[in-house]
Amino acid sequence: MKEFIVTVDGPAGSGKSTIAKIIAKKYGFTYLDTGAMYRMIALYALENSIDLEDGSQVEAMLANTKLDIVGNQFFLNGKDVSEEIRTPRVSGVVSPVAAIREVRVKLVELQREISKGKRIILDGRDIGTVVFPNGDVKIFLVASPEERAKRRLREYEEKGVEADYESVLSSIKERDHIDSTRKESPLLKAEDAHEIDSSTMNIDEVVEAISKYIDEKIGE
Ligand code: CDP
Repeated sequence: MKEFIVTVDGPAGSGKSTIAKIIAKKYGFTYLDTGAMYRMIALYALENSIDLEDGSQVEAMLANTKLDIVGNQFFLNGKDVSEEIRTPRVSGVVSPVAAIREVRVKLVELQREISKGKRIILDGRDIGTVVFPNGDVKIFLVASPEERAKRRLREYEEKGVEADYESVLSSIKERDHIDSTRKESPLLKAEDAHEIDSSTMNIDEVVEAISKYIDEKIGE
C-alpha cells in the first residue's frame, strides 16, 4: 500500500494519543503526535520568556527551534524534552502559542513533510480539516470534559506529576475554548469525519470502531 493517512482530531484528553498509538501498532503505521510539536514550541517560549504579542520575537523563536522526533522521543534543539512537554506548566501556555499563525505554518509544513509517502496516523486539532483535508480515514474523538479531566488526572498520577481534579478540569475547559474559538485552524469536525464519543466506551471499543473504518477503506 502506498501513502495512507488516518487523521484523529478532538479536544484535550479525549484519548487521541492512546488510541492512535494502538492503531499504529496494529496496522504497522507511523504515529505522529502533532500536539507534542506545539508543546515543544510552547516550552521554548516559556524558557526564553518570549513575548507572544511581539512578531519579531515569535519569528526569531521559530528560526531558533529545531524539532526532531525519533519514535516516541521529542528533541528540542537536540535536548530530549519528551517528559517536560507533558507537564501542566506547558499545558497552561500551549494553546495561546498554537493560536499564532506563523507557528502553525511552520508546524503544518513539518507535519506534511514527515508524512510524505508514509502510512501514518496523526492526531491533533486540525489534521482532518487543514493538514490533510484529503485524508483517507478521518476520526473526530470526543468525550465529556469531566471524563477527560479524570483521564488526564490519572495520567499525571501515574507519572508522579502533582495536580488536582478541579484545576485539571478548568485547564482543559480553557484549552477547549481557546482551541475552538481561535481564528487560525480552530478545532472543528471535518464534514467527512466519523465522530466517536468515548465517554462511555473503553479503549478496545474505540479501537474496534476505528479499525472498522480503516478496514473498509483499505478494502475499497
Ligand atoms: O494531549 P492533549 O489533548 O492534552 O493535547 P495535545 O494534543 O498535546 O495538544 C496540545 C495543544 O496543542 C492543544 O491544546 C492545541 O492548542 C495545540 N494543537 C493544535 O493547535 N493543533 C494540533 N494539530 C495539535 C495540537
